[in-house]
Amino acid sequence: MNYNLPMKINFNKFIIALAPMAGVTDFAFRKICADFGADMVVSEMISIKALENNSKLSKKMLREESKCIRSIQLFGHDKDSIIKVLSSDLTKDFDIVDFNCGCPAPKIVKNNDGSAMMRDLNNSREVIATLVKYSNKPVSVKFRLGIDNNENYIEFGKMCEEVGVSFITLHARTKEQGYSGTVKKEAYKNLIQNVNIPVFWSGDINTKEDMEYAKSIGCAGVMIGRASIGNPEFFSILKGIDAPYSKKETAKRHLEMLKTYYKSERTLVSYFKKHLMWYVKSTNNATLIKQQILQFTTLQEIESLIDKM
Ligand SMILES: Cc1cc2nc3c(=O)[nH]c(=O)nc-3n(C[C@H](O)[C@H](O)[C@H](O)COP(=O)(O)O)c2cc1C
Repeated sequence: MNYNLPMKINFNKFIIALAPMAGVTDFAFRKICADFGADMVVSEMISIKALENNSKLSKKMLREESKCIRSIQLFGHDKDSIIKVLSSDLTKDFDIVDFNCGCPAPKIVKNNDGSAMMRDLNNSREVIATLVKYSNKPVSVKFRLGIDNNENYIEFGKMCEEVGVSFITLHARTKEQGYSGTVKKEAYKNLIQNVNIPVFWSGDINTKEDMEYAKSIGCAGVMIGRASIGNPEFFSILKGIDAPYSKKETAKRHLEMLKTYYKSERTLVSYFKKHLMWYVKSTNNATLIKQQILQFTTLQEIESLIDKM
């Protein structure tokens, strides 16, 4: 399908994207995934309210250096806050604003954010229309099959199209399913048949064949989540290109970049330990090494382990 979009992004080319993942897709990991071939990267979800309130932690998350299409994912439903944040230059380093309507975490849902946005379509229509109106860049929306086991993803997708959203991403599980079981494959086809904006597939893309299937049914792209964790090489495999650097080099670069982000060694060590455990997951003795990593308290311990990788 040829889409006529007011944006520099060419949807006539299939797009392989890094999915937004809270606690995973930090600026350094996004940059690495772009190096390995991701066409687009999406930030961790960032609270619109926190940005409005000048939260230092949230503002820090706006750092973006990836050499590909850069998307910032926002959540929150307060229209005044949306207007304030989008009228500022806070999102200037990004090409796309993505809106989270899929997060199932209780602390998010109880504030009527994330997947709770799928409960009341009249309200979400107003909120998303505000995002589109005040954003000076394309707005995309990521959502699930539905919430309260009510699968309203087709109405939701149509509403997004009606208010001017540039593309939508479906993670074909309900909020109640969380991340369990497998995605409902036929839902992607159903959605594509009912809207005239590009549809991205998110969920269970674990092989090149999975990606080819998404492409064959007319998806504009795929978002890669868990399969990329500790494994940015997956983008090179999907693209059919050589990986630009080794796992050891990846871990080293990731850590070096994060050193410029975290001022405290303690915070950096505690954050990077989980990435390091993911980076070693496919090595021999992974269980033993992971147990060692859990005990690490200093950068020196982390660096000497990376040197031995
Ligand atoms: C650790 C983790 C954090 C996530 N955080 C977000 C998020 O911040 N925003 C979002 O829209 N989806 C989030 N997701 C959902 C993913 O973007 C994706 O839709 C889901 O994991 C299914 O894709 P996968 O099977 O490729 O992982 C998260 C998933 C995981 C595993």
